[in-house]
Amino acid sequence: MPFALRRTTAEADGPLALTTVHDEIAAPRKGRVDFEAFRAGDYAPRALELAAHAWSTRALQEYYSLALFTQLSSQLHVMGVPLDWCGAFARMIEDEVRHTDLCLRMCDALGRPASPVIDETELHLASDRTLPCHVRDVVLSAFCIGETISGTMFRRAMKAATVPLAKEVIAAILVDETFHGEAGWELLALLLRGISLDDRAVLVRRIPALFAHYLRLCGATRGPTWARGAEETEPAPNFGTLTEAGYARAYWDSMEEDIVPALSALGLVEAVSAYEALLVDAPQP
Ligand SMILES: [Fe+2]
Ligand SMILES: [Fe+2]
Repeated sequence: MPFALRRTTAEADGPLALTTVHDEIAAPRKGRVDFEAFRAGDYAPRALELAAHAWSTRALQEYYSLALFTQLSSQLHVMGVPLDWCGAFARMIEDEVRHTDLCLRMCDALGRPASPVIDETELHLASDRTLPCHVRDVVLSAFCIGETISGTMFRRAMKAATVPLAKEVIAAILVDETFHGEAGWELLALLLRGISLDDRAVLVRRIPALFAHYLRLCGATRGPTWARGAEETEPAPNFGTLTEAGYARAYWDSMEEDIVPALSALGLVEAVSAYEALLVDAPQP
């Protein structure tokens, strides 16, 4: 059954112990976010509406990351990884709790509290592959591709933001996402050590589908020329959002500047031809 995502367990008698601990976890690791200083009344209702829609969608994506990292973390335990992997994952799970919380609090501040609907069937990935193959696949997909694009997108959204609160929230998220991207590349390098030829072939076969998946997710199907030729950011007041072309551009630029070269450097040189095939298929203006 789908369910509505809620921030806290509201109780009439005051906050629960779990809510108090959650609030500590959800506080930014660096800097501060001053929700109190924000006055929704200073902005036009339409601008608040659009911003709340974008932040509610982000809350949903952050919650999916939370579920995925939690699942992956327990799978790593079964694989017998060293304890430093568990520590890094404990932090990243905590981070995704913080991000989801911040996105929902942003909607509250905008005067449009959000309870995005979660499709629980999307939360955990079922796989018919062996556990190591599945874990490598998810690390390549969610971390090396997903977190790298997300880092580019948030850096650009922070630059675009003119509303101080939006800048503060993105800065708090970006501190964490930068680490997630770094950790992801390290994890993939470690997971590729001593990989069998058969397992490598399984992973390499997935690369074109993963590139295509994120292409659709970022709305980048109209190709890089369109994405780079159109306006990248929404006009002021900007609540930390990019235009459709801006999100698409984050995909193409991340792929070209970071993801494809890094995969190639790790020995997955098939990423280059997979990317070239994507460019050939992309519509030309
Ligand atoms: Fe996140
Ligand atoms: Fe993340």
